Amino acid sequence: MSAAKAPKGTYDLLPAAAERRADIVAIAADVFTSYGFRQIVTPEFEETALFARGVGDATDIVRKEMYSFPDRGGRELTLRPEGTAPVCRAYVEHGMFKLVKPVKLWYYAPMFRYERPQAGRYREHYQFGAEALGSDDPLVDAEVIAMLGQIYDELEIGDLTLAVNSMGDQQCRPAYMELLRGFLTAHAAELCGECGERTVTNPLRVFDCKVESCRAVLSEAPRLVDHLCDPCRRHFDTVLELLRRVGLDPVLDFRLVRGLDYYTRTTFEYQSNALGFAQSTIGGGGRYDGLVELIGGPPTPGFGFGSGLERVTLVAGLDEAEDEGPLAYVVSFAPDSRADAFALAQHLRRDLLVDAECDLVGRSAKAQLKQAGRSGAELALLVGLDDLVDGEVRVRDLDSGDEEDVALAELGDWFDDWLDDDELGGHGHHHGNGNGNPLGGNGGGDR
Ligand code: HAM
Repeated sequence: MSAAKAPKGTYDLLPAAAERRADIVAIAADVFTSYGFRQIVTPEFEETALFARGVGDATDIVRKEMYSFPDRGGRELTLRPEGTAPVCRAYVEHGMFKLVKPVKLWYYAPMFRYERPQAGRYREHYQFGAEALGSDDPLVDAEVIAMLGQIYDELEIGDLTLAVNSMGDQQCRPAYMELLRGFLTAHAAELCGECGERTVTNPLRVFDCKVESCRAVLSEAPRLVDHLCDPCRRHFDTVLELLRRVGLDPVLDFRLVRGLDYYTRTTFEYQSNALGFAQSTIGGGGRYDGLVELIGGPPTPGFGFGSGLERVTLVAGLDEAEDEGPLAYVVSFAPDSRADAFALAQHLRRDLLVDAECDLVGRSAKAQLKQAGRSGAELALLVGLDDLVDGEVRVRDLDSGDEEDVALAELGDWFDDWLDDDELGGHGHHHGNGNGNPLGGNGGGDR
């Protein structure tokens, strides 16, 4: 067999990238928590009908992009293409509508869409996202949009445009759709074939079309924001006002209908002006006041967003976490002290909570010392030396070369002192407080 590769449109995160990803998610998680959101985890696959109904039969996601399959029991299943319908499904299934409203949930999960891969677009991508269920108050829209803005701030992402639009509701949208349909029908000759179909199935989807001639036609089309009913108008105006009140600068974009059918009223996207390619939307979402009812729950308004980790990672200002080795590397000097080295490493990690490694491939003592240096360890703990007193281990500071013999029973105290000094002198990657360097060095140098 030729060497296996990851499937098209997927990627591996190697350790440095995985650690940076974890840092980004941890920052988002802290912000979610500070706004009172709690994490939810739902299955990687759901019944296909959930997405067909929730996301919408006429959307590209449902028509062309789902990874759907029958399982061995004949169930029709789909790998989750997006996070909102599953969260709403869980909300209904677990009776969360009985909880204090709004119910605030966040998630971090992979999404699967059979799209044409390109820069910033994958077949498996990860999103962090949030959903607030149970209130149609415009404060919810503003709070969630501002929360995502804060996450981006904390990730040091600059140069963003906040685009917003309103999709209206069941009162005003049907009449607008007829108006739009009439307009599109009159311009049918100028539209691409797909938009011809969309005119019939779901005219709003025409706004997603990237074909230049279609876009030209649409710049003349009637706009939903100009045809909102009074309650939708007031709702949207309040959202805009609240966003400005907290220092955001929403820009109206009449094309922002988003690729999912469940939206009502507010839609929004944060677009990065730093990404030099088409996929510049790093996060987006909106209000979906009909979705929970559509999938069988009680009427429940909702608002949320999803943000793509791959794109966020490209623009995040955070530095990559430094590669850190273990604090200690245990070196065995005699073939029959390998088990002692292993047991000592285990004692360090488990009982003393000191990051430690020992040789696992049968290196010579010299090669182990070399590996200790290469690993980034600050200390080597030497065992199996002829001149060592029984029950003692020799600790060598790998920077200064200073050595000291320490009784095994006192190793915990020794590390406490050393780590205390570490904090003052800046040995690097470990914590503690107090002073005194048991090796008598200069306090660890200049890291
Ligand atoms: P979405 O706009 O389809 O919305 O996806 C949200 C974000 O995920 C996008 O803004 C983008 O950053 C990222 N994304 C989407 N598709 C891909 C892809 N193929 N490759 C890489 N990144 C991608 C939703 O999924 C809604 N569930 C958001 C929402 C939550 N609305 C209300 N609540």
